[in-house]
Amino acid sequence: MDNRSIGVFDSGLGGLTAVKQIMEEFPNESIVYFGDTGRVPYGTRSKDTIIKYVRGDIRFLEGLGVKLIVVACGTASSAALPEVQREFDTPVIGVVGATARAAVSKTKNGKIGVIGTTGTIHSGAYEKLIGEMSPDMVTYSQDCPLFVPLVENGHFNSQMTRLAVEEYLTDIRANGVDTLILGCTHYPLLKECIGEFMGDSVELIDSGAETAKALKSYFSAENLHGDNSAAQYSYYVSDNVDGFIHLGGMFLQREINGQVRKIDIEKY
Ligand code: DGL
Repeated sequence: MDNRSIGVFDSGLGGLTAVKQIMEEFPNESIVYFGDTGRVPYGTRSKDTIIKYVRGDIRFLEGLGVKLIVVACGTASSAALPEVQREFDTPVIGVVGATARAAVSKTKNGKIGVIGTTGTIHSGAYEKLIGEMSPDMVTYSQDCPLFVPLVENGHFNSQMTRLAVEEYLTDIRANGVDTLILGCTHYPLLKECIGEFMGDSVELIDSGAETAKALKSYFSAENLHGDNSAAQYSYYVSDNVDGFIHLGGMFLQREINGQVRKIDIEKY
């Protein structure tokens, strides 16, 4: 039994979609979330910059004494994690492994679509991992740089969003994928719009949800389960606290009722 908190971070708000899933899977776990809202987006930045940011984010959460860190950011998980994971004493888990495994097990025709930020898609992390897991499978990837700003501005299923979905997903749909990885933790908020465009026969894979499910066996293996009868949630951001509380509730689909504090992430 281990009642220390789970640390979770993202470049901003997207990781809250993973936090929502972790809260549902583990009602007795306390969670500390860091959203790097002052430096978002990560998805358009160079690999070196993402690595520098991710090191600081992990150092900050590690300093709070968390038992495990979940990198709830597709970009950070794919572009930086393989390089930095072994530098820390605290276990650090990204979203790519569990998500790729879920896609490989769910596809029936072996055609998997992957969408994400430019950083995630350019890293090739999903293609590489899926290829290692199952060499016969074919992946079709597409970066969707307008999705994050659309989500952050509340355009979950507006005309603008439908146009962007059509623009980005037409080729992937034409290739006949039956499984589509939402490789960015912002994208679950576009699920309805993406689902309508792709059709019922295409299964959408939510990276936060798959990672939360995978934590269960990890916790059991490492004896990390907590049994907090009153789990605590706290949030840290590197910019505007009010903006986070307002928009974060939409990502979390519940009110942000823990404490939200601003920190200077550049110090870490
Ligand atoms: N939530 C981030 C991800 O999963 C995207 C936002 C960003 O570009 O920083 O990739």
